[in-house]
Amino acid sequence: MKINIVTYQNYFGHHLKVEESLNLNVIKKELEAKNFNINIFDINELIKYGVNDNEFYWITSHQNTAVKKYLNDIVFSLFVNREEQLITSLKLYFAHDNKGIQSLLFNNGKSIELIKQKYYLSSLSEDIDRKKVFKTIDGAGGQGVSLVDNSKIKKRVNKEKIISFNIYECKTAIKEKIKKIVKRNDKYASYVEKRVPYVLQDFIEGLDSDYKVLVFFKRVYVLKRNIRDNDFRASGSGKFSYIEPTDELLNYSLNLRENINSPFVSIDIAEVSKNKFKCIEYQATHFGPYTQLNAKYFYEKKDKWEKVVKDNNLEQDYCYSIYEFMKAK
Ligand SMILES: Nc1ncnc2c1ncn2[C@@H]1O[C@H](COP(=O)(O)OP(=O)(O)O)[C@@H](O)[C@H]1O
Ligand SMILES: [Mg+2]
Repeated sequence: MKINIVTYQNYFGHHLKVEESLNLNVIKKELEAKNFNINIFDINELIKYGVNDNEFYWITSHQNTAVKKYLNDIVFSLFVNREEQLITSLKLYFAHDNKGIQSLLFNNGKSIELIKQKYYLSSLSEDIDRKKVFKTIDGAGGQGVSLVDNSKIKKRVNKEKIISFNIYECKTAIKEKIKKIVKRNDKYASYVEKRVPYVLQDFIEGLDSDYKVLVFFKRVYVLKRNIRDNDFRASGSGKFSYIEPTDELLNYSLNLRENINSPFVSIDIAEVSKNKFKCIEYQATHFGPYTQLNAKYFYEKKDKWEKVVKDNNLEQDYCYSIYEFMKAK
């Protein structure tokens, strides 16, 4: 079986720091030892040579928005009729770093107990009756996440507008303001007005922590993250610990990975009541590996859950997952 690993400028995301690539030499060696034929090349070569029948493709994603858009465009165009050749599925590739797509994919699809949420653009089409969690669609580390009620949403959107204005948008906005004063063309001004995409999630009250869980096929790594002082957010708090997870948490995590049909997944999980879980966010590619890198143990599903001393590195976990996932294909 041939697997093509497609990089962007020799980068495949990501290691502990987002700008650090996974070690592709280790990955190549590991997968070759499992009898895969491995070819590593840049996204530009994929454009040049196209997609071969009967081969598989594992393609990096990126957090730089321009790079991400470029990669998305290529991956969509080349694989829309060849989805089965992608290791990270087309929809999960698009869901990376896009909470809007995440919310739409699995709210109505296979149940992963995703917390109820809705995708908006700038204004709300209805009033909200209680506090919600506002999230910009591409935030990370708790940035862009805040609590809002009806009165605060407009302010929050405006703040996001200002933060994310680029020079071109600034120019357009000023031009339109001047035009509006000189000769009114409200319709055009409204057409070109800058807008902010975001999701509103049901707020789970009273949480003191969440779980960051990484599932590599049947291996589960669990990190507990306490919330920051005087805040409801756990991500980015730095108050992390490795706990003994319950079977229910492990089962929930493994089921989620199986439901979305991915070799691996990173999940943010809230315990809404004893042993009842909701997914706050998920990523099936280009996710932070802290939880795997710092763990001493993982939990593996055999007949029952077993606690196993970790002696595999991150790259080996990726390769193990791909091997098991492809075997089942
Ligand atoms: N719906 C929610 N209810 C309560 N707390 C939440 C909710 N969504 C997120 N949080 C808290 O906010 C943190 C950041 O949210 P998350 O969606 O994971 O964004 P990020 O991209 O910053 O990781 C989470 O770690 C969690 O502690
Ligand atoms: Mg998160």
